Amino acid sequence: MVEDHHEAFLREFGDLVATGRLPEHGRDLFDRVFAISNDFLATGRVALAADPFRGDDRRLAEDSDLYYVMFWRMFDRTPAAMIQDFAIKVRRILAARVFRSCGEGVVIHHNALFSSGRNIELGDGVFINRDVMLDDRTDISIGSHTMIAAGALIETHGHAYDDVSQPIMHAGRTLAPVAIGPDCLIGFNVAIMSGITVGRRCIVAANSVVTKDVPDHTIVGGVPARKIKEISATKSA
Ligand SMILES: CC(C)(COP(=O)(O)OP(=O)(O)OC[C@H]1O[C@@H](n2cnc3c(N)ncnc32)[C@H](O)[C@@H]1OP(=O)(O)O)[C@@H](O)C(=O)NCCC(=O)NCCS
Repeated sequence: MVEDHHEAFLREFGDLVATGRLPEHGRDLFDRVFAISNDFLATGRVALAADPFRGDDRRLAEDSDLYYVMFWRMFDRTPAAMIQDFAIKVRRILAARVFRSCGEGVVIHHNALFSSGRNIELGDGVFINRDVMLDDRTDISIGSHTMIAAGALIETHGHAYDDVSQPIMHAGRTLAPVAIGPDCLIGFNVAIMSGITVGRRCIVAANSVVTKDVPDHTIVGGVPARKIKEISATKSA
């Protein structure tokens, strides 16, 4: 049983950390961490944890091509993931498999995080920079040639908070899809809240929190994001 190996590892690891003896056994313990990873790669077996928020994490994982999602995560933790041209092509192949739809020529950098991929639709030429979090509990669509800068967060869930008889953690999730139009720039460290639609050719300024829909051809910025200006057609190539 895989779980028995994990339990034995956890007991020994806990004991070594508590008694300050990890350095004497660190190499061996790390070999066993790799063995657990290799076992997953060879078999696809993974034990899904119970969802502490009583949401649908387990169903999301079961509905996904979990092996491919996990392979992506593991790949991103290897030095090969830093070889940009190679890594982008690897992720393109994985994205075509795990996302609901994925256009031509997408570029996804290091450490994009998502739950299952099943609710994600990317248009052609979408560019996702490093450390972007796509909270794909429900639908996220990103239009063609839209850029998502490093550290951006696209949320599709919140937590109900008005039933004071129970902790917010246990009150259940609220879900609402996010749609981002084509030809947009979502700046670095932006957070887009659940239920938001961003129109076409919009810019969300760096570090903004978007809490309201953004009409086409609009630049918004700030916390919460407000209109900065419209993008007018003054130049063309
Ligand atoms: C929004 C942005 C495009 C504005 O560019 P711009 O057209 O040159 O506009 P300006 O710099 O003249 O700024 C216009 C107004 O927006 C404000 N503003 C600019 N960036 C802002 C931000 N991140 N948050 C809040 N307000 C911002 C300016 O303070 C200015 O306000 P004011 O008119 O009251 O003085 C730019 O600041 C930005 O955030 N770009 C995204 C950068 C990024 O994430 N790059 C990643 C590339 S992958």
